[in-house]
Amino acid sequence: MKKIKVMPVFGTRPEAIKMAPVIMALRADERFETVVCATAQHRQMQDQALGVFGIQPDHDLNLMKPGQSLNDVVAGVLNQMGDLLEAVKPDWVLVQGDTSTAFAAGLAAFHARIAVGHVEAGLRSYQKYAPYPEEINRKMLSAITDLHFAPTPFAKQALQKEGFADKDIAVTGNTVIDALFWVLNHTQAAPIPELAAIPENAPVILVTGHRRENFGEGFRDICEALKQIAQQYPDYHIIYPVHLNPNVQKPVLSILGDINNIHLVEPMEYVSFIHLMQRSHFIISDSGGIQEESTALGKPVLVMRDVTERPEGVQAGVCQLVGTDVEKIVSGAKQMIEDENAYQQASSARQVFGDGTAAQKILEALVAWK
Ligand code: UD1
Ligand code: UDP
Repeated sequence: MKKIKVMPVFGTRPEAIKMAPVIMALRADERFETVVCATAQHRQMQDQALGVFGIQPDHDLNLMKPGQSLNDVVAGVLNQMGDLLEAVKPDWVLVQGDTSTAFAAGLAAFHARIAVGHVEAGLRSYQKYAPYPEEINRKMLSAITDLHFAPTPFAKQALQKEGFADKDIAVTGNTVIDALFWVLNHTQAAPIPELAAIPENAPVILVTGHRRENFGEGFRDICEALKQIAQQYPDYHIIYPVHLNPNVQKPVLSILGDINNIHLVEPMEYVSFIHLMQRSHFIISDSGGIQEESTALGKPVLVMRDVTERPEGVQAGVCQLVGTDVEKIVSGAKQMIEDENAYQQASSARQVFGDGTAAQKILEALVAWK
């Protein structure tokens, strides 16, 4: 039987993490021939995430430029992808999520009349600029996509409402849950180097932030809120792996660089990061993937966004939207620290984002699709 030739494409940290289970499943399955393409939209953070899963890309577009614009990334992918697709001739291109890499690789596949499978399809905030540019990237991708892998029934409904046919939508769960379970099943909770400076039983608050719509005033407010939390709760230690985007590094290092119980560290290797999530009292983040992982782990998150395209985590009671308002972030933290009842309620693990079998479901949907 002729193998199905599949080219998964990714370029940022979250795409690498979320595509890794699909790549591992494809490479282990004789029905498929797999050619992996990394754009390296994120040079260091993509490679750090891939290293955990031992994945070597077959092609590396080596795109990242310091301080790159959205147009730089889209143009860079389009420029290189045409020739690559012409040479490899895959039956399918798989893209993940809503980044510039995903959108541009999907568009290049469409230009070459190659079928597109969209992993994590159907997420919607219905706000053009929140998240920016991701909401529009994923809508444009939906228009290009042949087979939509919706992580949840809610995401499937969003696609149905937009007129996509049932036969072209597979509800698979989110592949980040496959990645999370893989880490929990394949790794030990080894000492976390980032915790070395912190007393053994001290309570930890884990922070991440990188959203474009928060750049400028939003980030200054986030930093002010973290400063107030650190001052009000001196026994708590805030660990903040700072995203490498210069728009994040600059305000965070200058405002928070000098506070005793705030620890600014490099982006963390995925395994340590998951174990640190488990070790933390709660999380403050604007990340998409962390909303999914924390819901599966039952680890409360104050989500620094006004809207979320992942309402399942909020409905589960684990995620709480606080935006970038200083007062809301600080009072959310106060509740997680002082209100035992509220904390317990936000701490129950819920598998609303999948059961760890998304990658296999994606493979079966690819085989069955007509
Ligand atoms: C990108 C995605 C966003 C995703 C986020 C995950 C787009 C438009 N944005 O945003 O959807 O949520 O990744 O983290 O696709 N940098 C490095 N090394 C790295 C990574 C980044 O130095 O390993 C710096 C570079 O200066 C780079 C800049 O960060 O130019 C911005 O990277 P970029 O991928 O354009 O945007 P992100 O904000 O990371
Ligand atoms: N993550 C990581 N190291 C870190 C911070 C995050 O491995 O220092 C992981 C996290 O567990 C999640 C993913 O990176 O799987 C989220 O990436 P990010 O927040 O950059 O992007 P988003 O999900 O918002 O697109």
